[in-house]
Amino acid sequence: MSQRRRRISLGMFLRPTGHHVAAWRHPDAAADAGSNFKHFVSLAQTAERGLFDLLFCADIATLWAGDNDSVSRIGTMARMEPYSLMVGLAAVTRHIGLVCTASTTYDEPFNLARRFATLDIISNGRAGWNLVTSQHEAEAANFGRDEHMPKSQRYRRAREFAEVAQGLWDSFEEGAFLYDKTDGRLFDPAKLHTLDHKGEFFRVRGPLSVPTSPQRYPVMVQAGASDDGRDLAAAMAEIVFAAHNDIESARACYADIKGRAAALGRDPGSVRIMPGFVPFVGRTRAEAQEKFQTLQKLIHPQVGVRMLSHYMGHDLSGYSIDGPLPEIPETHSGLASRTALLTAVARRDGLTIRQLYERVAGGRGHFQAIGSASDIVDIMVEWVETGAADGFNVMPPLFPTALEDFVELVVPELQRRGLHRTRYEGNTLRDHLGLAMPLSRHARRPAPRSG
Ligand SMILES: Cc1cc2nc3c(=O)[nH]c(=O)nc-3n(C[C@H](O)[C@H](O)[C@H](O)COP(=O)(O)O)c2cc1C
Repeated sequence: MSQRRRRISLGMFLRPTGHHVAAWRHPDAAADAGSNFKHFVSLAQTAERGLFDLLFCADIATLWAGDNDSVSRIGTMARMEPYSLMVGLAAVTRHIGLVCTASTTYDEPFNLARRFATLDIISNGRAGWNLVTSQHEAEAANFGRDEHMPKSQRYRRAREFAEVAQGLWDSFEEGAFLYDKTDGRLFDPAKLHTLDHKGEFFRVRGPLSVPTSPQRYPVMVQAGASDDGRDLAAAMAEIVFAAHNDIESARACYADIKGRAAALGRDPGSVRIMPGFVPFVGRTRAEAQEKFQTLQKLIHPQVGVRMLSHYMGHDLSGYSIDGPLPEIPETHSGLASRTALLTAVARRDGLTIRQLYERVAGGRGHFQAIGSASDIVDIMVEWVETGAADGFNVMPPLFPTALEDFVELVVPELQRRGLHRTRYEGNTLRDHLGLAMPLSRHARRPAPRSG
C-alpha cells in the first residue's frame, strides 16, 4: 500500500462550542460562539495547523422544536448559516477544505450551483458540498410547505438536483475561457453548453452564470444512511459521512457502500468513508477521563431528555428518566437512521433514558473514545485497517480545547506512525484526499457539434 493510500483522512466537524451536548456550559467554552466569527476563525486556523483535510459544517434550516424552556438550555440553538461561514473562513485559511451542508429539499439547483462554484473560486479549489435531504421535518414550515416530502420523493429530488447542479458546472468546457484581449473574445462560444433540463422536479435552462471553478465540481459529500441514502452515495459521493456507535456496524456500512459503488462501475477507492469520531484525549488516560467526566456532570436532565426526544422523534419528557426507553413507534422521518442507532444501543445495553442520553451526550450517537493520544490512534488504525473507515470526521467534544488537544497530541502521534501528512502537498481539497479531478461531461463524452 502506498504512503498516500495509508493516510487517514481527517475532517474537522465545526459546531459552536463543541459536540458534547453540555459543551457550552464548560468554563473553557465561548458561550456566544454561535455568533462569534473570530472564534470560528481561530478553530479553522487551529485545524489547518493540524493539517486536517477539511472543515465541515452541518446545517438545519429550523430551530429545534419542543417546549421553549428545554430548548433554551441547548447550546447549539444559536448558530450561523454555514455556507456564508465557509466563505468567510476561505479568506482566513489557505489549504484546508471547506465543506458544508446544503439541503436539496429546500433549495434550487441553479442557486446552489452558483454558490458552490463561487466558494470554490474564492477558496482556490477547496469547496465541498454535503448533500442532504433535510433530516428535520420542521424545516418544511419555513419554506411554505405543510409537510416534509416523503423520503423516497426527497431522494428522487436529491438525485435530480445533483445531476442538474453537475450539468450546470459543466456549462463551460475545459479551456473555454480565452481572455483574448486582442481579438476581444472572453470565451469560446463553441465551448459553452446550455443544459436545458426538464425533469420531475426541476426545469433549468442554464448555462451557469459563474465560470468553471478550480475543482469544476465541489467535492461531493453524502451523509444519508438509509437504503436510498446509500444508493445516492454509491452513485455520486466522493466522501461519505456516517454515524456509527461501534466498529461492527461501521464495517458493514463500509462494505455495503463500497460494494454498491463497485456495482455501479466506480472504483471503490474513489469513495472516502469518514464516520464521525468523538475523541476525549488527555496526556494520560486519567486526564482524558477527567475531561470526559467534567462535561458529563454539566448535562442538564432537561437537555438530555430533549436531545433524545429529538433523535427518537418521540417526546420522552412524560416517562421516568430512570426507567427504560419506551417502545418507539417506527418512523420514516429524516431521523429514522439515528433513531434506529440509538434504540439499538439502549436495547443492547439495557439503558434507562438517563443512561442513554449520558452515553450519547458526547456526540449524538457517533463513536466516541477516551484515552491518551496513543490509545486514540490505536483505535483509528483499527478502524482503518479492518475496513470500517478511510478516515474520520473528527468531532471535538469541546471547542477550542479538545481541538487543541487533538492537534497537539493526536496529530503528532499520527505523523510518527506515517498516517498523517507533515505539510500540505497539493492545493485543492481533491488533492488532499487523493481524488481525481472531474472532467466535464463534454470532455468525457464528446457531443457532436451542431453548426
Ligand atoms: C456526519 C453527518 C452529518 C450530517 N449532517 C446533516 C446536516 O447538516 N443536515 C441534515 O439535514 N442532515 C444531516 N445529516 C443527516 C443525513 O444527511 C440524512 O439527512 C439523514 O440521515 C436522513 O437520511 P437517511 O434516512 O438516508 O439517513 C448528517 C448525517 C451525518 C452522519
